[in-house]
Amino acid sequence: MSQQSKQFLNTTFDREHIWHPYTSMVDPSPLFPVVAANGVYLQLEDGRQLVDGMSSWWAAIHGYNHPKLNSAINRQLESMAHVMFGGLTHQPAIELAERLIEITDESLQHIFFADSGSVAVEVAIKMAIQYWHANGRPERQRLLTIRNGYHGDTFGAMAVCDPVNGMHQIFKGVLPEHLFAKAPQCHLSEVDDESLQDIERLIRENHNEIAAVILEPIVQGAGGMRFYSPQYLQRVRELCDEYELLLIMDEIATGFGRTGTLFAYEQAGVAPDILCLGKALTGGYMSLAAVLTNRRIAHGIAGDGSGVLMHGPTFMANPLACSVASASIDLLLNSPWQQQVNTIEAQLKRELAPCISWGAVKDVRIKGAIGVVELKQPVDMAWIQPRLVELGVWIRPFGKLLYLMPPFIIESDELSKLTMAICTVVEELSQN
Ligand SMILES: Cc1ncc(COP(=O)(O)O)c(C=O)c1O
Repeated sequence: MSQQSKQFLNTTFDREHIWHPYTSMVDPSPLFPVVAANGVYLQLEDGRQLVDGMSSWWAAIHGYNHPKLNSAINRQLESMAHVMFGGLTHQPAIELAERLIEITDESLQHIFFADSGSVAVEVAIKMAIQYWHANGRPERQRLLTIRNGYHGDTFGAMAVCDPVNGMHQIFKGVLPEHLFAKAPQCHLSEVDDESLQDIERLIRENHNEIAAVILEPIVQGAGGMRFYSPQYLQRVRELCDEYELLLIMDEIATGFGRTGTLFAYEQAGVAPDILCLGKALTGGYMSLAAVLTNRRIAHGIAGDGSGVLMHGPTFMANPLACSVASASIDLLLNSPWQQQVNTIEAQLKRELAPCISWGAVKDVRIKGAIGVVELKQPVDMAWIQPRLVELGVWIRPFGKLLYLMPPFIIESDELSKLTMAICTVVEELSQN
């Protein structure tokens, strides 16, 4: 352990002064001080090594402290850490754009670099609204989405998150009111008529004021960890084409192999008009996101030629982040990632399936390198978080969901440690 990591972390100061995600200053949740991260392990201050089941919220697909990613950042640091992107350009941004345009659908030829997933969603929404504004349909300003979605915490993104488990109640009156279709049934092989009819009806009745449909393709993440049929996505694409609506796909969580294909939309054989990427884009090293779009929209926003896309964050296309993103994409494409994800999927199926027999469990579902155990009741975080750490794993449940999305490099025995921890807590919950 390094000298620095031996120092005692001042968690008392932290609890008094620093907000963590969704926490209270009055009643802060327990914190586990982490001093290092290597491969699939997080090292706590007291020396314990936890197997990471979260990839730091879908991002660290190659594990932590990867020599190739480290050296990409170090190399870039020698020439420049950051420069503004207004009026200047640089090789890391150009190289990353080339790679992203190469690996996504061939229609997506134009790219905007944002600084986080939420901001990417804001930019995607702006693109859609500006497109219609520049093309004589300024009344097309609303968005249509599906329930149980999650698109981020900024205002534009929050407005398209699930209206019940999102934050709409608190921010009512401030958030724009969009349209919400019934979520497709959480079943990969079938598409239910009810949800299709609902989205068809909403589009039929409101298409004149809708700018775009926005959704997470195939896997809905933080809004419920739900998986739905590719046929649903195909039908939504058809409806968007029929009514000339734009389709925004938010692959911030699903992108870069997590669901078994490089991008989840590939499973439906359809393409978005606007695509949001983030999280695993940099292999979890730095905050960076990208919004890709097609020629129709990119040129359409310019309207008569004078229109500009109204966004330009300070840290746009940060060279360090772009360099590590290119290195992460190369690492992924040169690795047997598909085989790794398939192997993880098979093992998750084998080892999490037995959980269904416990009384506390409502459903077990697996898709690619994502394993979900849905409980009947919300978990008590004050009990379960320390219990999972005691079992040697880092798993961060929310609501009724216990889930895994490990780094793709995880070994079978490490993955078993994660699945066994879930089976253990589920058994304990069922016996209480
Ligand atoms: C599908 C999806 N979109 C957007 C976001 C927001 O990304 P960020 O947290 O980087 O702002 C998330 C984050 O979990 C996400 O899962």
